[in-house]
Amino acid sequence: MCGIVGYVGSRQAAPIVLEGLKRLEYRGYDSAGLAVQQDGKIVMLKKVGKVSHLESALHAGTMAGSVGMGHTRWATHGEPSEVNAHPHLDCLGAIAVIHNGVIENYSVLKKKLLADGHRFQSDTDTEVLSHLIEDLQKAGGDLEQAVRQALHQVKGTYGIVVMSSREPGKLIVARKGSPLVIGFGEEEYLIASDPSALVQHTRKVIYLEDGEFAVVSMEGVSTRTLDDVAIQKSVEELTIELEQIERGGFEHFMLKEIHEQPETIRNSLRGRLQVDEGVVKLGGLEQVKDKLLAARRIIILGCGTSWHAGLVGEYMLEGIAGIPTEVEYASEFRYRNPVIMESDVVFAISQSGETADTLAALREAKAKGATVLGIVNVVGSTIARETQGGVYIHAGPEIGVASTKAFTSQLTVLALVTLLLARARGVPHVDYTLLMNELDALPGKVGKVLEGAGRIKEIAEVFKDARNFLYLGRGSNFPVALEGALKLKEISYIHAEGYPAAEMKHGPIALIDEKMPVVCIVPKDAIYDKVISNVQEVKARRGRIIAVANEDDDDIGDLAEFVIRVPRTFGFFGPILNVVPLQLLSYYMAVARGTNVDQPRNLAKSVTVE
Ligand code: M6R
Repeated sequence: MCGIVGYVGSRQAAPIVLEGLKRLEYRGYDSAGLAVQQDGKIVMLKKVGKVSHLESALHAGTMAGSVGMGHTRWATHGEPSEVNAHPHLDCLGAIAVIHNGVIENYSVLKKKLLADGHRFQSDTDTEVLSHLIEDLQKAGGDLEQAVRQALHQVKGTYGIVVMSSREPGKLIVARKGSPLVIGFGEEEYLIASDPSALVQHTRKVIYLEDGEFAVVSMEGVSTRTLDDVAIQKSVEELTIELEQIERGGFEHFMLKEIHEQPETIRNSLRGRLQVDEGVVKLGGLEQVKDKLLAARRIIILGCGTSWHAGLVGEYMLEGIAGIPTEVEYASEFRYRNPVIMESDVVFAISQSGETADTLAALREAKAKGATVLGIVNVVGSTIARETQGGVYIHAGPEIGVASTKAFTSQLTVLALVTLLLARARGVPHVDYTLLMNELDALPGKVGKVLEGAGRIKEIAEVFKDARNFLYLGRGSNFPVALEGALKLKEISYIHAEGYPAAEMKHGPIALIDEKMPVVCIVPKDAIYDKVISNVQEVKARRGRIIAVANEDDDDIGDLAEFVIRVPRTFGFFGPILNVVPLQLLSYYMAVARGTNVDQPRNLAKSVTVE
């Protein structure tokens, strides 16, 4: 969501913080701000819009100081504006706070602080923290103690960095629900909400856990709990490379990430799919193998694209391994008092590993006794750390807000989990050799789909002014229809709906006329003829059909105005190929419409608030 960067060291803080903010812009970007300790004061600059606006407003020689912090904001409380951008100051401008998360009881606290004479500048929940800390310091005590006391009074989630002009040379950091990582450089320390802001300076980091608190100064990093008990944190090594978080010649991160998919799928399979030995090995599930084998039911939790991956997973787990599987929106799960049994195994799927709803849902399932596992991309993320086992998807950093390569890697991992469980449970009539070979061939087949990008760009030009889109698919391609529609909505702001093809006649068919583009996913699988009947229904109403079909489908050209070809594969693995043209279609539509592809309006890469 929002991004946080802090710096304490021997270099100038402002340029380092700005650089880090740029790397975090994908997390939230309606405004940005910077504060530096300079000559016994806090100097601050805030701007609406991108970090580059902040950078151009920063004049050489101003904001000189080697302790600083900055923030990119994704608005929750209060519209995007300069006053609402972080940092937020106390009445005297001596205390500055940046914050990710939501202070749920802010209005109660604010009322009290206003009654005590505090003057607020913004509409944010965050500003109560600076005034509360100010208030508590008036009663005596140092900044550290005041921050601790303030945090004991707030309800909600936070990742915060606090500085005070009265206690120069240090930053105070605390976490509950919003990630924070501290990097150890040479004669310097960096703080960030996401390790990608640190990797160009250091690989040595510690991750703060919920309820932890750190004081960062040139003397070092002292970590304690919020209740002031000293804790020893172990330093971990970051594994991401700088080039992974750069565009590498592509116009947008999203396009780069779409094109990375042959490689990222291969990375998801590497060392796990052992075709010659005829086995699947998933080290992260070894410890919980007994629980998995005894599971009466699998529950998959996720949001957005990760939820769509879960839906495809349900088809695989039930269709191949015969395990009863339910897929739930993580955001709905815990508010409906779900019945969870100790024999349930829950998979939380998340690219970022930080999605607040997914985290809350998995905690609920864990509290109710289920075994909780993760299918996560970001190594060391909160979900990865709070689960009892799991599988990293190894897709590498995904910067584009619209998730692409993470989705195909999530599906690849779900396919591996399915094969592992089917074999371990002794499911009969599964041709493991065939399925393993099909999985092994997927990277090459995705490469073939990508060769058709030019044709998809032409189709996007034809439809770029459309107001609505329908996406239809059946079976495991129904979630692909949902995902195609989500991609289009997210980055080109065109209204789109994904539907199970056969459900169309129960309502949405009323929308079809000669202006309605309908993307139909029609692979030559077991239900091909059924889907073709649905496509006929669209044609009969003069809808404009764009078909995603197999290379050897000679009939589809008679029905569809445009055909995008994909290689054949085993039915349940089809979504891994069929989604790629839909990613490209939405990408080229967005480019043709001139929208901000990597940072679409109102969206954030990692949604760390409920
Ligand atoms: O990081 P997560 O996978 O938990 O994120 C879940 C959703 O917020 C995410 O998939 C979102 O829907 C993407 N913007 C989709 O492109």
